[in-house]
Amino acid sequence: MSETRIEPCLFIILGATGDLTRRKLLPALYHLAAQGLLGRNCRILGAARRAEWDDEAFRAMAREALAAVGLTVDDRCTHWCDECLHYQSIGRGQPEDYRALAARIEELERTHHLPGNRVFYLALPPVAFPGTITALGQTGLNRSAGWTRLVIEKPFGRDLASAEELNRLVHQYFDESQTYRIDHYLGKETVQNLLAFRFGNALFESLWNRDRVENVQITVAEQLGVGSRAGYYEQAGALRDMVQNHLTQLLTLTAMEVPGAFEADAIRYEKIKVLRSVEPIRPEDVVLGQYAPGRINGRAVPGYRQEPGVAPDSRTETFVAMRLEIANWRWQGVPFYLRTGKRLSRRVTQIVVTFRCPPVSLFRSSDGPGIRPNILVITLQPDEGFDLSFEVKAPGQTMALQAHRMRFRYDEVFGPLPDAYETLLLDVLTGDQTLFVHADEVEASWRLYTPLLQRRLPVHPYPAGTWGPREADHLLSRMKDAWTIL
Ligand code: BG6
Repeated sequence: MSETRIEPCLFIILGATGDLTRRKLLPALYHLAAQGLLGRNCRILGAARRAEWDDEAFRAMAREALAAVGLTVDDRCTHWCDECLHYQSIGRGQPEDYRALAARIEELERTHHLPGNRVFYLALPPVAFPGTITALGQTGLNRSAGWTRLVIEKPFGRDLASAEELNRLVHQYFDESQTYRIDHYLGKETVQNLLAFRFGNALFESLWNRDRVENVQITVAEQLGVGSRAGYYEQAGALRDMVQNHLTQLLTLTAMEVPGAFEADAIRYEKIKVLRSVEPIRPEDVVLGQYAPGRINGRAVPGYRQEPGVAPDSRTETFVAMRLEIANWRWQGVPFYLRTGKRLSRRVTQIVVTFRCPPVSLFRSSDGPGIRPNILVITLQPDEGFDLSFEVKAPGQTMALQAHRMRFRYDEVFGPLPDAYETLLLDVLTGDQTLFVHADEVEASWRLYTPLLQRRLPVHPYPAGTWGPREADHLLSRMKDAWTIL
């Protein structure tokens, strides 16, 4: 969505020695630089606790990190690291450490003739957000001679009260127009394409409502387990880690009304309206699960409770399925089913829209009784594309129908897709907030799920490598629906 004109600036990463910086931020920044999008006047200042580090140590880490994600560290890449990367320790985060950071920022801006445009990227664990935001504000780093933007990673709060508190703190020092709350799903090309698909094609818009749609399903399935992130995940669980943010973003983009214009405020306003129309979610419409030992691709894998760092009696959910309804003119009565889990049968993110069947059946199907609905499957990852199922007459003397699919695949047409972080960083640098989460949006989302977090809902075990607990199937069969996945 960005126009790719980037003003000279300093990109300050707080948490510069961490995993996110290595795996996502440095590779994305380098890709943007290699495409000529950053120019020589975008410099990166890594800031972290390590006092013994200097520019050279940070550059060496960057070269290693770029190689680790499969990039070729050639002369051009080395040159970029040497030319554009800098490091400043913020020690224990005391006021004098932030004053030293401010002095270094000014020194770099003077030396490299930068006009004072700054991005502060909080690549930090959430416990460090409040202290860092306060320190930036109190040091006067929330304003500059140019523009100043604050980028905050998820999770943004852990319930409604903490999200409101964090928003209050952010707004004490930064305007909403300076604040970029990241949800990396919004940077995925296929997620953005949902908007193009819905609002660039008149064909589906007239069908996108309660008269034509039977139900909508959103599945974000992962094959990976919790890995080495138990410390974080034990406190989070799938509802906070995936549903409150990523699945909710997919829900709002699927259900929103046509915005008045294709610009950040109009789009974000429509998304917030969807969230405010969701009926309170009933506990009986929610199924939580936790993976037990099982097999993934023929390999035995441990259960969640056996993972390193997980309590042997942990009740943390690694799976959520739920049914919700949107009480507005477009969607009243249409069930929206959300489902996500770790250690599921395969990695796939799909939005499945099942349309209503013809009211009367004139034909029979060649492979069983009854009429099948038309189904639109939007695959967001992997194997990104669209499939639309429809009925055709099977050749022969009898009038029998068969279901077939029209199919579109991104990679067959466009080749590989850019990484979400590239898109999002470019948008931060160009000042486009369309793909970032507004304060009201984050609060509206927590408002929906906080009552569920406050209850002790049962957590059903499911064997790793399956589609989750049986109760998740019952959730739909109760309504005479069934999960659909391509
Ligand atoms: C992150 C979650 O936000 O998203 C992880 O914290 C999850 O638990 C990841 O694995 C999934 O992202 P993607 O892009 O791999 O679908």
